[in-house]
Amino acid sequence: MKSIEEIQQAVKSYLASLDWHIAPVGLYEPIEYVLSLGGKRIRPTLSLMACQLFGGKLEQAMGPAIGLEIFHNFSLLHDDVMDKADMRRGHPTVHKKWNENTAILSGDAMLIKAYQFVSKCDDSVYRSVLDVVSATCLGVCEGQQYDMEFETRTDVSLPEYLEMIRLKTAVLLAGSLKVGALCGGASLQDADLLYDFGIGVGLAFQIKDDWLDVYGDVAKFGKAIGGDINCNKKTFLLITALEKADAVSKATLMEWLAKEKFDRAEKVKAVTAIYDKLDVGSDAEKAMRHHYESAVAALKRVSVSEELKKPLYDLADQLLYRED
Ligand code: IPE
Ligand code: IPE
Ligand code: MG
Ligand code: MG
Ligand code: MG
Repeated sequence: MKSIEEIQQAVKSYLASLDWHIAPVGLYEPIEYVLSLGGKRIRPTLSLMACQLFGGKLEQAMGPAIGLEIFHNFSLLHDDVMDKADMRRGHPTVHKKWNENTAILSGDAMLIKAYQFVSKCDDSVYRSVLDVVSATCLGVCEGQQYDMEFETRTDVSLPEYLEMIRLKTAVLLAGSLKVGALCGGASLQDADLLYDFGIGVGLAFQIKDDWLDVYGDVAKFGKAIGGDINCNKKTFLLITALEKADAVSKATLMEWLAKEKFDRAEKVKAVTAIYDKLDVGSDAEKAMRHHYESAVAALKRVSVSEELKKPLYDLADQLLYRED
């Protein structure tokens, strides 16, 4: 059985072996660029771990795993345009280094490349893998749409937020696990349980991302701090703050949300001060733990030995404490 580190290394080597020196350079160079900046490679790692859990060899899931990582990177190109983000993985985003048209078209090409890699699996599972991938990718688009629509609302509830992050983030982790499981020969029931594990991990993962957007260290996080605050993103922290706030804090928050012209740093500082005062960071930690527990409950029900599941428990645990 391969360790988490060995699996991550296998993903890294495979990605490094891809040749993007294809004409037109303007289309493929940004793809090589974003893929070369690293990232945690969580999604392909989950696929390969799921495959191995059922006795499959890593190669059986490698194509789809890489396809899902390319899809994820594609979603980042477009997400950074939508979120007006200038920095990703500690470097300028594609639309900053090149321009928005480049981010759109290289992103589109990545989506197609993703499907080409997804097809590199055994014919016996291809149809079911393809169905999971397509449902997953559509889910991400749906989540992104809600995320955008929520920017202009101030009455987003916690259940609405959870549904939005389930779609924009959790389904891709869940889908990666399910695809890997199917490639490894799992039963549909076990593949679905791993999917549920991925949903729990994914919800905790996105709440942590919201937390890091405020409390992270820019050098480790690789993204600008306060990006969500500036876009009026309805994050776990903001929704909880709006729910918990006394009249004065609530009025201050609403004022910042309504401002059209503001100094970025000033807004981040003011909103963070309210988050600190209301201690919404602790609420986020509790929520993360809750979703982590539901993830663990699903993994417990998968019909293989607990010993074999250990790396998946460990990875879920690591993600709770991540700083990037
Ligand atoms: C960023 O994903 C987008 C979210 C769903 C929060 P990751 O945090 O997995 O980004 P990389 O791939 O490691 O850079
Ligand atoms: C993550 O949303 C979802 C996708 C990228 C599809 P975010 O907008 O929070 O991700 P980051 O923080 O930019 O990585
Ligand atoms: Mg976004
Ligand atoms: Mg973003
Ligand atoms: Mg974020």
